[in-house]
Amino acid sequence: MKKKLNKVLAEFKNEVEQLESPAVAESLRIKYLGRKNGILTKLTSEIKTLPVSKRRGIGTSVKQIREEITATINEKSQPKQTTKTQELDITTPGKKIAVGSLHPITTVIEDVKEIFRYLGFTWTDGPEVESDLYNFQKLNMPPGHPARDVQQTYYIDDDTLLRTHTSNMQVRYLEKHKAPIRVLFPGRCYRRDMPDATHLPSFYQIEGLLVDSKSSMTDLLGTLDFFVKNFFGEKTKTRIYGHHFPYTEPSIEIEVYHQKKGWIEILGAGMVHPNVLRNGGIDPNKFRGWAFGMGPDRLVMLKYGINDIRILYNNDLRFLNQF
Ligand code: PHE
Repeated sequence: MKKKLNKVLAEFKNEVEQLESPAVAESLRIKYLGRKNGILTKLTSEIKTLPVSKRRGIGTSVKQIREEITATINEKSQPKQTTKTQELDITTPGKKIAVGSLHPITTVIEDVKEIFRYLGFTWTDGPEVESDLYNFQKLNMPPGHPARDVQQTYYIDDDTLLRTHTSNMQVRYLEKHKAPIRVLFPGRCYRRDMPDATHLPSFYQIEGLLVDSKSSMTDLLGTLDFFVKNFFGEKTKTRIYGHHFPYTEPSIEIEVYHQKKGWIEILGAGMVHPNVLRNGGIDPNKFRGWAFGMGPDRLVMLKYGINDIRILYNNDLRFLNQF
C-alpha cells in the first residue's frame, strides 16, 4: 500500500512538471482527488480492505499526500504574473488621500491671534492644572470670596484645581516679564457647568494682557472695537456695560448683536487691578494695564450661526466636513 501511494505521488509530480496552463491544473485535481474516481480517493477507500496489522500509519501518509497534491494544484492554478501587469502604469489615477481640516475653534483662535499680532501682541499657553493661588488668590479672590461662586470649580485637592479661566496666566506672566507687555493666552478652561446649548464643562478662552506706562480704558475700548470690526465685519453692532471682576477696576463686558439671537456676551475686560500688578512684581505707580478674556467657542457660534455649543465637540463628520 505504501508503495502504491508513493507511486501515485511520483506520477502526480511528473504530470505537474509538464503542466502548461492553470486550466490543466484543474483537470489534475479531478484525476487525483475527484470524489468518485480520483486515484487517491480510490486508494483511500482500499485502506479498509487491508488487514488491521498493515493499516498502521497509512492514514497519515494518505493525508500528507492529499495535502501536498492540493497545495501544488492550488499554486499552479494561479494565473502566472505576466510582465505586463508588473509594469508601472503612471496614467492610473492615484489613490485619494483623505485630507482633514482645522477645527473651527482652532481656526477662530488663529484668526484672533492674527488680528492682535497686527497690534504687536505675542502669545503663549499656560497650565490647565493650576494652583488656587494663581487662579483665585492672586487675583483678589481669597478663599470664600463670592466671585468664586460663578466659576464652579473642579478641585484636584484643596490647593490644586482645573483652571476656571485663562486669567490664571496674568500674575504668572507678570512675575517673569518686564513691562511693556502685550500678550495673549489662549487655552482650555474647566467649570462644573451642566452641559446645555451654551455651556460645557470644558471650553476655550483667550486672555489678553497689556501693561505699559500710559495705557487707558479708552485704549482698551478702541482695541476691542478694532478687534470686533476685524473679526465680524465693519458694521457689527456691539454694546458695552459696566460689570464687576475682582481683578479689574473698572470692569466691563461686551456683547455683540446677532440678528437671530440678539445680544450675546463675548468677553469680559477691564483695567488690571493694582493688587494684581503688585502680585506680579510690577509697581502700580509706574505702570498700568488692561486685560480681557474672550470665549472663542462663542465667537465660532456667532460667526457661523451655530446654536448649540455641543456640536463643536462631538466629532460628527457631517458637521466637521463643512469647514
Ligand atoms: N476671567 C473672566 C471670565 O472668565 C474674563 C476676564 C478676563 C475679565 C480678564 C477681566 C479681565 O469671565
